[in-house]
Amino acid sequence: MDKILIEGGHPLKGQVRISGAKNAALPILVSSLLAEGSYTYSNVPDLKDVESIKQLLSNLGARAEAHGDKVHVDTGRILSYEAPYDLVRKMRASILVLGPMVARLQKARVSLPGGCAIGARPINLHLKGLAQLGANIILEHGYVQAEAKKLKGADIYFDTVTVTGTENLMMAAVLAEGTTLLRNAAREPEVVALAEVLHKMGADIQGAGTTVITINGVTSLKPVSVSIIPDRIETGTFMIAAALTHGDVTLVDCEPDHVGACIDKLRRAGVRISVHEKTIHVDGNDEFISVDVKTQPYPGFPTDMQAQFMVLMSIANGTSIISETIFENRFIHVGELKRMGADIKISGNTAMVKGVSGLSAAPVMASDLRASASLILAGLVAEGQTEVNRVYHLDRGYEAIEKKFSELGAAIKRVK
Ligand code: EPZ
Repeated sequence: MDKILIEGGHPLKGQVRISGAKNAALPILVSSLLAEGSYTYSNVPDLKDVESIKQLLSNLGARAEAHGDKVHVDTGRILSYEAPYDLVRKMRASILVLGPMVARLQKARVSLPGGCAIGARPINLHLKGLAQLGANIILEHGYVQAEAKKLKGADIYFDTVTVTGTENLMMAAVLAEGTTLLRNAAREPEVVALAEVLHKMGADIQGAGTTVITINGVTSLKPVSVSIIPDRIETGTFMIAAALTHGDVTLVDCEPDHVGACIDKLRRAGVRISVHEKTIHVDGNDEFISVDVKTQPYPGFPTDMQAQFMVLMSIANGTSIISETIFENRFIHVGELKRMGADIKISGNTAMVKGVSGLSAAPVMASDLRASASLILAGLVAEGQTEVNRVYHLDRGYEAIEKKFSELGAAIKRVK
């Protein structure tokens, strides 16, 4: 089990390039199942989760190979329609193959994704929407089996805003007969990016990025070559790292428009941020003040940035109220931060973070992807050497994170 050691107290300085977005790459790679042929995806991040999706596509008979930051996929020979348990359990986003496989192969058998550290993560809305499109859904032996001769357009309302639910049903509906409406749809940039790729493939989709997406089914689609949008969560993570360490960092190849809520909160906390075309400059040389945050679906403050922001608030002046409204168990990092000296009290889905003068290094345990990033951030400012264990969580969602941090001057290294 790898661990990461960090010596706190080094201000980050210099320039960091933001990689392609994990949560855009996953659905976009899966969309290759919708049409036979050869695809080229560029700016794909080199992540464990991308590896898993490539493995899943190969399992189904496609060929998926990486060459640098490009991934070539050939879906000429889809032989199987089953996504097995040992692949899905590693990454719940595998459920995204359900929609495109039913649309293209009329059949899919996908292991039900279990829960995960941050919550039960049900997929009932994915299945309800697929059933409304005419798929026959059977749940048995831990698998979901979906079949449909030909999906038919439907008027679908999401009880809860769901990112992958919106993506799954968008991909199911593009080849359905007639018109599908997705109401209360997710508006995340990754949903818009997927819609743009499907549009380029020949799909007829209007309204992505708003709460109602209208899809007029077409009879066939064609392969494309596209580039993946920058990762807004990695962008937010590095903005906070620069602020925390009172550094001076420029983020390049990012998309400032996708991190508006984070920039707003950081500016209100006293962080100096200037935005240009595709770059963001963070000059974190002042004291921070506590601000309240409530996680919301996009364009609100992202739940995937909650743990990272909490680290900044743990050394700000005042008290910050952080409410997590998306997942029921996304405060696992709090226990670890308290062991580093943070003063945090939880009641229900709200954490009260009282700023302290500084954190102290400790051995800590990562639990989920974004919580492990917050522990790295805490280690960057804690007095002494922090040891973060179970960093495989990190490798799922951050490309070469310790390399990027050490190039900015952090004293960080990975030990086997
Ligand atoms: C996506 O997960 C992201 N993953 C998550 O990022 C992100 O935290 C989440 O959206 C929220 O922004 C990918 O895009 C691969 P949801 P997803 O469906 O789609 C409930 C990361 O760190 N719900 O939007 O699984 C659900 O329980 C990951 O990169 C249902 O009740 O999240 C949750 O409370 C973590 N029934 C809420 O909706 C359903 O059928 C939002 O979940 C589906 C969801």
